[in-house]
Parts: sequence; C-alpha cells; structure tokens
Amino acid sequence: MHGLMVKQRRKLHRVQVEKAPRLGLIRPTPQGFIVTARLHDGQTPDDYEDVLEKLAHAWRVHGVRLVSWKPGRVTLSATLVDPLEMAAGLEVAAEGLLRVRVGLLDDGNPFVIDFRTVPHWLNVGATQSGKSNLANALIVGLSPQPVALVGFDLKGGVEFTPYQARLSALATERHECAGLLAELVAVIKSRMELCRQHRVKNIWHPRLPEGARPIPIVVLVDEMAELFLMADPDNEKEEVAAVATRLLRIAQLGRAFGIYLFVCGQRVGSDLGKGVTALRAQLTGRICHMVNDDETAKMCLGDMDRHAVAAARQIPPDRPGTAVVIGSDSRWHRARSAHVLEEEAEAAAEAYAHRAPSWQSLTAPFAGDAEQAAELDESEIEEFTEPDLEDLPV
Ligand SMILES: Nc1ncnc2c1ncn2[C@@H]1O[C@H](COP(=O)(O)OP(=O)(O)OP(=O)(O)O)[C@@H](O)[C@H]1O
Ligand SMILES: [Mg+2]
Repeated sequence: MHGLMVKQRRKLHRVQVEKAPRLGLIRPTPQGFIVTARLHDGQTPDDYEDVLEKLAHAWRVHGVRLVSWKPGRVTLSATLVDPLEMAAGLEVAAEGLLRVRVGLLDDGNPFVIDFRTVPHWLNVGATQSGKSNLANALIVGLSPQPVALVGFDLKGGVEFTPYQARLSALATERHECAGLLAELVAVIKSRMELCRQHRVKNIWHPRLPEGARPIPIVVLVDEMAELFLMADPDNEKEEVAAVATRLLRIAQLGRAFGIYLFVCGQRVGSDLGKGVTALRAQLTGRICHMVNDDETAKMCLGDMDRHAVAAARQIPPDRPGTAVVIGSDSRWHRARSAHVLEEEAEAAAEAYAHRAPSWQSLTAPFAGDAEQAAELDESEIEEFTEPDLEDLPV
C-alpha cells in the first residue's frame, strides 16, 4: 500500500500543471482593461503569448494582447469589443510628408503608413481581402502631398489606370515594367551623384540645399507575382531576372534616395523564385490580409513573428480590410483600414493632378540610356546603405 502511494506521488510530481496566473490590480481602459501578471518560476512571456486566446475566452472578452513585459512580469490588455469595428467610418488623413493614417490598430492607435520610418511595404491578401482598398487610401493621403506617384499595374491596368492623372508614370505590361524600373534605378544613380557632390549619404540630409532636394517617389505595385511568374521560361527568364534585380536595387537604395515601394500581391511563395525572398528582406513593413494559404502568411510575417502568422490565419473572410501589420515598432498588430472607394481615390487623383511631376522632370538629370545608366555595383550599394547618424527627418 505504502509503495503504491509513493509511486502515485512520483507520478503526480511529473505531471505539468498549468498554474493559475498571479494577477495584479485590474485597471480599466477606454477599450477594456489592463492587468499585470507575475510569472511563475520557469514561465516566460512567450508562455502567455501562446495562451492569449484561451485567456480571452476565460475572461469573456473580445481579445487579450501582451502589451509589454519586464523580468518576472507581463502586462496584458483586454478589449471588450473589437475596436476594429470602428475603422470603417474613419477618414484617411495625411499626417505629414509621406505619412498617411490609413486606419485603426486594435489597441486603439491609428494605423499609419509612414514611408520615412518604414520605406518599403509588402501588402498581401487573397482576392477581395482589401489590398486595393489600402492602395486607394494611400492615393487619397498622398495625392495632395509634394510626392511623385508611380504605378506598376500588372492586372492590365484595372487597378491604377483610374488614378493616372496623378501618376507620373504607369506601366501595365512586364516589358514596360522592366523599362520603367531601369529608369527608376537610373534616377537613383543620378540622386547618388547629387549626394556625392554635396557629400551627404541621403537626400534628406540637412546639408543638401532645400532647392536641390529631389522629390520623393512612391511606387505602387499590384500584382507582384505577375512580375516574377514565367509562362515561357525560355523567352522570359532574362526579363524576369532584370525586373527582380532592379526591384531589389530600388528596395536596397530607396530609403537613401527617396524612392519608396508599396508592393501588393495575392500569393507570395517560393515558386516565384529566389528574387522574392531577397526582396522580402528589404520590404520591412508587412501587411497580411486574409489569405487562403499558410505559405503566403508565413512569407509575409513568418520571418518576423510566428504569433503574427497565427493571428493572420484567424482573420475572417467577411471583414475585408482587416490585416495583421508589422510596422515601425516591429511588433505585430491587428489592424483595419478605413474604407476608401475607388471613386474617392479617383476624385483625389483628379483634384491633385497638377501636383504630379512629369516623368521627364524626374528623369531629366540622367537624360540618356536608362538601361545603361541602371547598372549599379555592390560597392555603390554599400556606400549608401550604411546607416547615417545625421539622417534625421526634416
Ligand atoms: N477596410 C474596409 N472596410 C470595409 N470594406 C472594405 C475594406 N477594405 C476593402 N473593403 C471592401 O472589400 C472588397 C474587396 O476589397 P479590395 O478590392 O481592396 O480587395 P483586393 O484584395 O484588392 O482584391 P483583388 O485581389 O481581387 O484585387 C471591396 O468591395 C471593398 O470595398
Ligand atoms: Mg485589388
């Protein structure tokens, strides 16, 4: 009998028991409440990240997020109703040069796309998930600003042609894209020369005279897969390779020379080739709408945060515009964009058509053969991709 008891006790000791959280004071917030939990020995904040959904059900709230942690404790924030329900009625607003408030984050803060802090973005989602809506929001927010907009619309022009009045250039076929990308790399090259003359590392440097500062260019790409997929590899291989290299060069050097990418795609997978992974590494802003496959969610968020992938997979199909976003703070957030109709974006593009610099004025400094001018070597890339401590926003 005694032997049996000892055996039972040993067994009991071996059982992992989930311990009840040791909660601190519950403090109300406009959306719900905040509470601190002390970690048990052996627990890490990750253990809480893994059970947030269980906590939400147990507490009968809409959602629970881990907002911060200190050694030995985590702070959790619970929301009673989905704050993203409020986003639909929001107005898109420009909040400074190259900065647009496009929606709402689930912590109640604005969802901001700020190209000055995060220069390039990858925006993915299944069809009808809200990708173009976000591009519309950018058109509305950027049109009144002193920036040039360039469209790559591989969907035969259906997405960006309505905004052509405000676009400085628009390419709708892949060979046009290859040419336009070469011209953009040539623009980079001439801006490089300008920066060398003034001994600065980027166009935002205070030492660059205001009159000499070139206008920033925001490049919108819809559907990125079309840039990379080949129907006929024998004939298209070279063109696709050229497109991939040029896009990568723009991503590597864009921050320094005021060229910013917003790349949309339905499906991003390894079948698009090696170029895609290299490009993704440069697109540090990530927006993942509802997707139908794990791979796209992983390509978009997986290299940043595995919890973000799980959150993206839970986006319901009946909430277009909802996304998981990783931006300047490198943390993931659930977000919803403001609803922006194509008509609104078109009206903004028409109203500010006079703000669109001509493509000639943008490319004038290098007048010549773009294909030739577009050659860049590794040393030039290194020269301008090192961080510059004087790179302060103007
Ligand atoms: N934030 C939002 N709030 C409400 N409705 C939205 C929101 N975003 C998008 N929608 C609606 O969802 C539908 C699909 O949006 P959108 O055209 O942006 O999808 P998409 O991802 O670009 O699709 P596709 O890949 O087919 O181009 C549209 O009818 C749009 O009005
Ligand atoms: Mg679309």
